[in-house]
Amino acid sequence: MSHDLFEAARGAMAFAHAPYSKFPVGAAIRAEDGRVYTGANIENLSFPQGWCAEPTAIGAMIMGGAKKIVEMAVIAEKLPLCPPCGGCRQKISEFAGKDTKIYLCDETGVKKTMTMEELLPFSFETELG
Ligand code: THU
Repeated sequence: MSHDLFEAARGAMAFAHAPYSKFPVGAAIRAEDGRVYTGANIENLSFPQGWCAEPTAIGAMIMGGAKKIVEMAVIAEKLPLCPPCGGCRQKISEFAGKDTKIYLCDETGVKKTMTMEELLPFSFETELG
């Protein structure tokens, strides 16, 4: 099951707009509707205005009408595996459960599988959610 997500993330990485860092990243989400939503990082000449691949994929999922991440894959061309940055972990956790699997990939496939809880332990929780 994770292989198609890996391929979707790798395909999404080709759409990265990363002319400044030259560090393309791709992400793919399987949502509760069974569909796969993808994203790539999108940078900006005003550097802080750029954003990561993961929120692009989350945005695609939300606009597709889904709300829940069942599993997710992340890949970066220039890393043996790409752990999502801290901000992305928080963003992913908004739509994931503690047991949601995140596949960290390289160009050949899934290299490491981690749960949301492993990626973001002791996460921020309030009575609001
Ligand atoms: N990046 C991501 O897309 N996801 C991450 O989890 C880490 C970093 C992007 C942001 C920027 O466009 C490039 O990688 C270099 O930091």
